Amino acid sequence: MRVSAAEGAVRAGWRSVATEEARTSGARSEANQRYRKRSEPEVQNWRVLIRPVTPADHDHLLPGLVEVLRDSVAGGASVGFVAPPDPAVAGGWWTRTLSAPDVLTWVALDAAGVPVGTVQLRLPWQENGRHRADVAKLMVHRRARGRGAGGRLLAAAEEEAGRLGRWLLMLNTRTGGDAEAIYLKRGWEVLAVVPDFATGTDGRLYPTTLMTKVLPH
Ligand SMILES: CC(C)(COP(=O)(O)OP(=O)(O)OC[C@H]1O[C@@H](n2cnc3c(N)ncnc32)[C@H](O)[C@@H]1OP(=O)(O)O)[C@@H](O)C(=O)NCCC(=O)NCCS
Repeated sequence: MRVSAAEGAVRAGWRSVATEEARTSGARSEANQRYRKRSEPEVQNWRVLIRPVTPADHDHLLPGLVEVLRDSVAGGASVGFVAPPDPAVAGGWWTRTLSAPDVLTWVALDAAGVPVGTVQLRLPWQENGRHRADVAKLMVHRRARGRGAGGRLLAAAEEEAGRLGRWLLMLNTRTGGDAEAIYLKRGWEVLAVVPDFATGTDGRLYPTTLMTKVLPH
């Protein structure tokens, strides 16, 4: 972890925040139907390990992380790219991300130790924002979805935020996209929907939902 020990106090327990039945509910039920279809076959003996990424992990995790990013974009995820980035571009992006002192990254590893998912916690540098953090880039490879990895990654990031005293969490996610439902299920609240926020892989502009979660403090 590249954060100072002084940054946080240990905070126990999570408050469940009521979810907002907002204008995204229609899109959400559509996403739920897609999700149920995708996760129908029960996977036996699925094991996944969630852990923070350290600088020492960089070289051996990089190819798998590149693949998670490329696969997510290929699946239409709105994570900064409009087409699956070339492996060299994706590798450069990961290298910059993993070396940023204010970004904490987690990886989900399958039983063979191959990355199948990731999430980030971005810590604002501002002195007046030491109680905040942004959750970003929650991604699970399509081959591993619907088995709990995404939920566990998000829980790991939230838990660390609480431990660091970063009790005000923020994120934005494609309105009606795969990830919106997961956040709503975990007690995130909708603040606003911003139209035309980002270009999709199909070249069209899509809205984003700004969300927040207040941890016990
Ligand atoms: C969103 C994403 C990370 C979910 O990963 P996952 O491993 O399939 O999620 P999980 O299996 O842990 O599901 C966690 C919970 O969310 C729900 N969920 C997950 N995907 C869902 C979907 N598309 N629709 C409805 N609910 C969904 C599950 O029912 C589960 O609820 P439960 O804990 O009550 O059982 C994955 O679909 C993904 O990588 N999407 C593309 C990347 C992306 O859009 N990221 C957003 C960046 S902001």
